[in-house]
Amino acid sequence: MRPTRIVIDEQAICHNLDRVANLAPKSQALVMLKANAYGHGILRVAQALPTDTAFAVACLEEALILREAGFTNRIVLLSGVYSPAELLVALENDCDMVVHHYTQISWIERSPLAGKLKVWLKLDTGMTRLGFEVGECDKVLARLNACSWVDDDIILMSHFAEAEIKDSPQTLLQLEIFLEATKSYSLARSLANSAAIINLPESHLDWVRPGIMIYGASPIEERTAASLELYPAMHVESQITQLKDVAPGTHIGYGGVYTCMTPTRVGLIPIGYGDGYPRHIDETAVVLCGEKLLPIIGRVSMDMLTVDCTGSPEVELGSPVILWGKGLPVETLAKSAGTISYELLCQIQQRGLVREANTY
Ligand SMILES: Cc1ncc(COP(=O)(O)O)c(C=O)c1O
Repeated sequence: MRPTRIVIDEQAICHNLDRVANLAPKSQALVMLKANAYGHGILRVAQALPTDTAFAVACLEEALILREAGFTNRIVLLSGVYSPAELLVALENDCDMVVHHYTQISWIERSPLAGKLKVWLKLDTGMTRLGFEVGECDKVLARLNACSWVDDDIILMSHFAEAEIKDSPQTLLQLEIFLEATKSYSLARSLANSAAIINLPESHLDWVRPGIMIYGASPIEERTAASLELYPAMHVESQITQLKDVAPGTHIGYGGVYTCMTPTRVGLIPIGYGDGYPRHIDETAVVLCGEKLLPIIGRVSMDMLTVDCTGSPEVELGSPVILWGKGLPVETLAKSAGTISYELLCQIQQRGLVREANTY
């Protein structure tokens, strides 16, 4: 069997949720389980979290995976519903919905419902993606309040565009706009994502919405996850399954884009872009083998990649390697791939055996 594994550390996930509670002690947490829990497995993460955790998913399909598995937790549909029919299913399945455009309001108005619909009203404070203009808040609330089937406890929310940039004027402006627009209502409010939980305590309010920090990656470029006391929840592991000594001038892999300049010991690792390992990486990309960082050489193929083991005589067939996880943060590889940790975590294919483990 291929020795490539994704190991999910459930204790790390719970520890990271505790970190959220330490940082935002007065707020409730709405934990992001969207995109298959950032690639960690939605059901696996849901069952690892404390039973009273509130979950956020992107869409009804993701919520139904949780409901069908028997989870009775609060679930918020971050993009709301896409049709009146979905509205009924959302209510039948006791899902909260984010309401962010007028079409959704008219669907709600035209569909008197048997139960009480819990609404998170989204305002656009500068992200220019989802949400009503802040000046429309009164009007929208009046329309929602006129529907007896909408729960009175509407939660007001907005989303930051760049909270990961410390002291960003855009973020401070969004905070100011949101606080001003919502101050006259006695309704709960939610604004902070992971970066704001860390960078901007004033934005914590009633509900924080942690995503990436639950999975143990740093949302902030200049801070490591370790310095934020976050533990990686995903460890992508494999082994050196072949070693080859080649002469100077040898080309490695597809396109022969890498040429060995000196005698080189080339190690093979059975993971590739078919597993979600990024194909586009620069020369800084490495894997961790014991204490050593081994540079990736040649193109990443669908099922394998090659590393330079020259000068590491301790590396042998079967030596364990970490592609990312403990000792090699996913943020480091994301940088080499010109992307963000979120993308690498979400795109990892659970093609290898997934194992649970408690490392901490
Ligand atoms: C509305 C909303 N809130 C919170 C988050 C969590 O963001 P992060 O993973 O940066 O904490 C997201 C993620 O994209 C989101 O869309």
